[in-house]
Amino acid sequence: MTTLLKTTCGRPLIPTKGEGSVFTILTAYASAPPVAVFKLTADFRSDSDSRKPWVLPVVKKVEQMIANDNSLNHEYLPILGLPEFRASSSRIALGDDSPAFKEDRVGGVQSLGGTGALRIGAEFLRRWYNGTNNTATPIYISDPSWENHNAVFMDAGFKDIRAYHYWDAAKRGLDLDGFLKDLENAPEFSIFVLHACAHNPTGTDPTPDEWKKIAEVMKRKSLFPFFDSAYQGFASGNLDKDAWAVRQFVSQGFELFCAQSFSKNFGLYNERVGNLTVVGKDSDNVARVLSQMEKIVRTTWSNPPSQGARIVATTLNTPELFDEWRANVKTMADRVLLMRAELKSRLEALKTPGTWNHIVNQIGMFSYTGLNPKQVEYLIKEKHIYLMASGRINMCGLTTKNLDYVAQSIYEAVTKIH
Ligand SMILES: Cc1ncc(COP(=O)(O)O)c(C=O)c1O
Repeated sequence: MTTLLKTTCGRPLIPTKGEGSVFTILTAYASAPPVAVFKLTADFRSDSDSRKPWVLPVVKKVEQMIANDNSLNHEYLPILGLPEFRASSSRIALGDDSPAFKEDRVGGVQSLGGTGALRIGAEFLRRWYNGTNNTATPIYISDPSWENHNAVFMDAGFKDIRAYHYWDAAKRGLDLDGFLKDLENAPEFSIFVLHACAHNPTGTDPTPDEWKKIAEVMKRKSLFPFFDSAYQGFASGNLDKDAWAVRQFVSQGFELFCAQSFSKNFGLYNERVGNLTVVGKDSDNVARVLSQMEKIVRTTWSNPPSQGARIVATTLNTPELFDEWRANVKTMADRVLLMRAELKSRLEALKTPGTWNHIVNQIGMFSYTGLNPKQVEYLIKEKHIYLMASGRINMCGLTTKNLDYVAQSIYEAVTKIH
């Protein structure tokens, strides 16, 4: 007798013959697809045309200081993380003179990257936001967004995840009217995930005036802002400018969350260093929120790793290192701005069909080029240029050495493949 275990899509999973066959119980019904951006990185690494990412000089310096500091050890950190890291992280998000600090209503949770901060915040909201069971509370995520947002909130137990209008493909810019309409029509107390700056993947942010309009509707409708700040400093080269939206919301009296990642602006991708900044109504409420978050962290990762948090805390809390870091961040941001301008001018010089202003109007690491999936496939297979199927390119991969090649390849993709 032949036994076939079927997958949900009807394919045989483990064909076994004869009696006495043993099935493994740890078998999935279907393989999960690879995470696109990690697959892209793996493909890039296995390509012979590889290059090395930059380690920030200030990070190298602080790593040496940490290695030489005999007072440090490998004991567990507190569940909520390194206190000096949490405090300094929240300070760069909200600004030293934030009314929320003066009123003692800010808390922080060290987390495993920005993803961890989003997940802990999402878990808390599902359990405790505005009542105790929020599985039906709508979560609004921009269309498009970083692909993990949906999954993080879904895995935290939210059942009603909706998209809000954000990107106007025709004008290759923000669809403010659509966005405001979605805010107006959202049920009271809905939760909105907002990109603090350098929107991923479109590279398009609201202007300060547009943010004010967004905040006005959100306040009137009692909508909860959950900021995702993965690129502070990376967008404009200026930490304060890139935190403008978050600070504006705080100045308007919002209670909010801000998930901070130090992966990009410190180049600490594999150290998993992030912080969830909580701005509450008053210090008692913040203390209660943190006590619940402590319970969530305890069963999630128990307590966070120290190396990345020590690097960030030492840098942020030492004036000369802080200045050096800001200069390093500005170097990265300026280089991206320069690459944008150079790519645009090369595409135009080649008379590449279409308009390319969006390359310089967009901001941050990413650009939504408007290339279609076939053109993307052509660039990867024929030209060894790696970008997402959505046409999103990582501007950090561009250098003065490869600009001509990339522009010429995009020209060929656009003219040859439709
Ligand atoms: C918008 C956004 N949020 C969060 C993250 C996650 O950051 P981390 O790697 O620190 O978890 C990313 C990373 O790409 C991102 O683009």
